[in-house]
Amino acid sequence: RQTPIIAPSILAADFARLGEDTAAVLAAGADWVHFDVMDNHYVPNLTIGPMVLQSLRKYGIAAPIDVHLMVKPVDRIVPDFARAGASLISFHPEASEHVDRTLGLIKESGCQAGLVFNPATPLDYLDYVMDKLDLILIMSVNPGFGGQKFIPGTLEKLREARQRIDASGRAIRLEVDGGVTAENIGAIAAAGADTFVAGSAIFHAKDYRAEIAAMRKAIG
Ligand code: DX5
Ligand code: ZN
Repeated sequence: RQTPIIAPSILAADFARLGEDTAAVLAAGADWVHFDVMDNHYVPNLTIGPMVLQSLRKYGIAAPIDVHLMVKPVDRIVPDFARAGASLISFHPEASEHVDRTLGLIKESGCQAGLVFNPATPLDYLDYVMDKLDLILIMSVNPGFGGQKFIPGTLEKLREARQRIDASGRAIRLEVDGGVTAENIGAIAAAGADTFVAGSAIFHAKDYRAEIAAMRKAIG
């Protein structure tokens, strides 16, 4: 199993002081920055794009930035995020007409690639593309908003995804996103996840460092 990664979702940060808040959460022990991109089309909310990512890089954020695209169409925006400094780009297969082509585009642009599965999306999209994946992201809420409740059926889906990764023999990360807290993260890790997105649980905590430490302890 790969070393656990904690990736705070800056969707729950203070957008008026995003650089500072992102630096603070990294200084408090976070590994990656999870960057949620919503287009008011694929999901009913609107957030941030490549310009904001570039500003974070200019501000001095050097940690890996894990871009979660909740946009449709996908392909046109991929090179913009790569140029802005994305490390990893994930997208929802339903939002792409040609999943294999989009994965190729992400890799060609120099980023790592991930596929995202909504709660009701079957894992079948993995069937012919495992060799192109660096990460599989299992949504544990319906995408669009932070602060929702973890959907318990996700645990079974994580176990299934873990089996597929182990069978592939490849070092693909298994990420979970939505409603992750220090209370449920132990069960989520036991189901096979190794990369944990948490928005409100971390940014709404009084002490980022204590919250991240509690999560690591619960992961074991
Ligand atoms: C939801 C986003 C998540 C969200 C998680 O569409 O993809 O990354 O910010 O937030 P919490 O941890 O508050 O559920
Ligand atoms: Zn996300």
